[in-house]
Amino acid sequence: MPLLEAGLLSATTIIIKTMIFHMSVRCSPILRKTNLAVWRAWRSWNLSQHSSTVHASSGPGPVDKSEEQSSVSTEKPPHTPVMLKEVLHYLDIQPGQVVLDMTFGGGGHTKAILNMVPEVTVLALDRDPTAISLAEQLAKEHFGRVKPLLSRFSELEALMSNVNIKPGSIDAVLLDAGCSSMQMDQAGRGFSLSKDGPLDMRMDGERYPDMPCAADVVNTLDQQALASILLAYGEERQARKIASAIVEARRVSPITRTQQLASVVAGSFPAAVIYARKDRLNRPAHVATKTFQALRVFVNDELNELIAGLRAAQAALRPGGRLCVITFHSLEDRLVKHFLQGDDLSNLDHFSSRNHATRKEKKDGGSGYWLPLRRKVITPEKGDVKENPRGRSAKLRAVLRR
Ligand SMILES: C[S@@+](CC[C@H](N)C(=O)[O-])C[C@H]1O[C@@H](n2cnc3c(N)ncnc32)[C@H](O)[C@@H]1O
Repeated sequence: MPLLEAGLLSATTIIIKTMIFHMSVRCSPILRKTNLAVWRAWRSWNLSQHSSTVHASSGPGPVDKSEEQSSVSTEKPPHTPVMLKEVLHYLDIQPGQVVLDMTFGGGGHTKAILNMVPEVTVLALDRDPTAISLAEQLAKEHFGRVKPLLSRFSELEALMSNVNIKPGSIDAVLLDAGCSSMQMDQAGRGFSLSKDGPLDMRMDGERYPDMPCAADVVNTLDQQALASILLAYGEERQARKIASAIVEARRVSPITRTQQLASVVAGSFPAAVIYARKDRLNRPAHVATKTFQALRVFVNDELNELIAGLRAAQAALRPGGRLCVITFHSLEDRLVKHFLQGDDLSNLDHFSSRNHATRKEKKDGGSGYWLPLRRKVITPEKGDVKENPRGRSAKLRAVLRR
């Protein structure tokens, strides 16, 4: 199947999957609006598919999804672990225990655990084959102590029975959400808006060649669906304006490169405001930052995956086992907070202010499953942020499985 056609078909798959997720999770009113827009986009795309071969020329074109996916240097650490001492403190790992690192990444947390605690076994999970090849290397260095697992959170429960891990048997779980520096810094992965590369953003790399990449999304969805994605997953207030600029630009030529997308977004604002936004360290942030976040979350189905990951962690941990979750933006943190409070995520309006009273009541008490190890969310120390600015927006929640 030609790449373009495959991309469009799988775009349909991911759109349907995302719709089903949002409908079943029924999160915020904003996300419910996204469903409608995405549904409309899917329907109009589907109709046009049946009427002719349109879109073939307006599609993403020759996006080489495998471009520049070079291997990672093992000499310098590929990722600086965020809130390492806090994670080690709250996980309180003892000799002989079994730890599940659900987000192995560059292995920063796992390596520290292995160095700190003798005779611990780490199940090192990641959806990214590049991360798993690092885990395999580490497994050779620490014979019998590291078990690499190539899997998404949503595949974990099925995988656990295959590799003989009993539910309720794990002593500690770490979930450090989002992307690793390895992914962000490699132009070929297409996550970075400062380095030019193919507009890819798939954390799974080439594991699912049919999975739509960011270029498929920006070149395929209609304007309203794009705007809804930017608003819902990037909390981008200028979503409509940016979506309109994307649709205009792709009429001229498909958007296939990261810098091309960054310029299209920047082009829809006056030059003076391109760096007028500030990040949490008060540094100038490019106006396309939220657009990139939104696309990444959508392409990788990150919120759905996060819920699956939290559920898998709950099933894997023994009573008295510990869970640390690190998140990097408010959408993730809100989900984690509600999950750990015991809110039923399939219930309506969890994120709306209408439930504020109920939320307040539950705020500090944890849920039937979870006891907070610290009342307040934990944030990185100033010195750590200076050393590792990427961790500036990190939030850590630490809980004990009842
Ligand atoms: C922030 S990095 C983890 C960094 C790691 N703790 C370290 O110290 O090197 C997040 C990692 O989680 C992985 N990841 C994100 N979502 C995932 C999912 N749904 N299933 C499995 N792995 C996932 C990403 O591929 C990435 O490697």
